[in-house]
Order: sequence, then structure tokens, then C-alpha cells
Amino acid sequence: MDEERISPDRAELLALAVSVAEEAGRMLVAKRPARPEVVDTKSSPTDVVTALDRAAEELIRARIAEARPYDAVLGEEGGDTPGTGGARWVVDPIDGTVNFLYGLPDWAVSVGVEVDGEIVAGAVSVPQRGELYSASKGEGAWLGGERLRCNTGVELERALVATGFGYEAARRAVQAEVLAHVLPRVRDIRRGGSCAVDLCSVAAGRVDAYYERGTNYWDHAAAGLVATEAGARMGGLRGRPHGTDMLVCAAPGLFESLHDLLVPLDPERDTPAH
Ligand code: IPD
Ligand code: CA
Ligand code: CA
Repeated sequence: MDEERISPDRAELLALAVSVAEEAGRMLVAKRPARPEVVDTKSSPTDVVTALDRAAEELIRARIAEARPYDAVLGEEGGDTPGTGGARWVVDPIDGTVNFLYGLPDWAVSVGVEVDGEIVAGAVSVPQRGELYSASKGEGAWLGGERLRCNTGVELERALVATGFGYEAARRAVQAEVLAHVLPRVRDIRRGGSCAVDLCSVAAGRVDAYYERGTNYWDHAAAGLVATEAGARMGGLRGRPHGTDMLVCAAPGLFESLHDLLVPLDPERDTPAH
């Protein structure tokens, strides 16, 4: 074993993920500009959010470095920092940037921990809801002290389905086409604005399913474990693993129904039919 390698203890990794996600969430709530006119100004709102994204990621990286100086970190803002420790941290400092900008509560700090290429622990802090989701591989998913189980036995026609849209116009046009076919077949659609919160909502039974094309690893690293530890199945289309091409998440049974609805719609294309 590498001398610099600090043996990853699962409980220690989870505790650190929880503490850094919560601390970054508190910082973001404290530092988010209070006056809507400042946040809404066309010339600077992106800068404001970008500065806070970076500040949150820097805080998370600093805390990880203090506790486990040799670990690798992949963060949306700071990129991939290699390490010789036993773990790699996968961080989205703000998932749901547009919600954060507008003062909507569904944004999250997402911190997942990978060991040997597999996410083994994760924390998703949704500070403006006072919620902390956590999961450890094989040991369940939790909202605070409450064990989570996703909804089961829900038929597609009665499923409340969350989804999201990318930032590129052509991809959005395809996503709208797909949605036009999904919407008449399900109970209703929710577009919450945070992939991490959507996956935690599957875990908590607040929605029955979630699908989205184009998400990044840091969006779903932590929350995907929360969902699967709550009993959900997560995957891509046609037996492929979930990833940027497509992510589908729901209890077994509903997963297959939603999958089979999506496949003929060819949702992984980026050229709209019309
Ligand atoms: C986005 C959110 C959103 C999803 C997008 C993501 P960001 O992350 O998760 O819900 O629809 O695909 O990029 O940009 O707010 O970190
Ligand atoms: Ca994100
Ligand atoms: Ca982000």
C-alpha cells in the first residue's frame, strides 16, 4: 500500500461528506445576496453565482485536504485533482444554480465519495429546506435520521415523473419533443431544477421517477447512491449504465416501464425531428 494512502473508513468518509456539504450549504445561505435586484441584474448574476460556486468548492476542497490530504477531488468548478489517497471526492458545489439565482429553495451541495471507482458514500445538503440526505453503500439512505424507501408498485400512468433540461437549444428542442410524448402517459411532470434534489426526491417518495439526458457525474454521484440505497434502480437505456447520455431512476417495475416508453422516442439524439 502507498505510504501516503490513508485507509478509507466508510463511516469516516460519510461523516466528512456530510460535514463539508452542510458547512458549504450554510456558507452559501449566508453569502447569497439578499436583495433580488442584485441577483437579477443582467450584467452580473452569472458572476455572482460563479463566485459563490467557486467559494463553496474551495471550502469543500480545503476541508477535504485538511482531513484527507492525499485524496483525489473531481469538482465541477475546479476540475480533476489527482491523489494518492484511497478515495476520490466528486463535488457539485451548487446543483440547481438557476434556483439559487432566483431564490428558489431547491438547490443542493452534493458531495460523493468514490473508492475503487465506485461511489460508496454521499451527502446532499439542501440547506434552504433544512434537509440533509446521506447514503452509504449497502447501509441505506437517510433524510436526517429517517430511513428512506422509494415508492414501489406505481404504474406508469400514475407516476409523478421528474425531469430536467440541458442548456443547449437543440438538446432542449429534443427534450421538449420527448416530453410531449411522456406527459400524456404519466400522472404529471415536475421540473425541479436540481438533478441531485430530483434523485433525492425519488428516494424520499416525493416523486416516483426521474429521467434526464445530459447530466454530469457530479450532478448524480451522491444523490444516485441515495436513490439506489432507497431501493430505486438507476441506469441508462438498453442495458447501458447511467451517464451523460441518459439517466433513468425509479423503483424496479416503473423503471422498465419508463425505459420502454423512452427508447422508441430516441431521447439520446441532439437533433430535433421538427
Ligand atoms: C443542473 C441541474 C439541473 C439539470 C441540469 C444540470 P447546475 O446543474 O442539475 O436540474 O437539469 O442538467 O446541469 O448547472 O445547476 O449545477
Ligand atoms: Ca449540477
Ligand atoms: Ca453546479
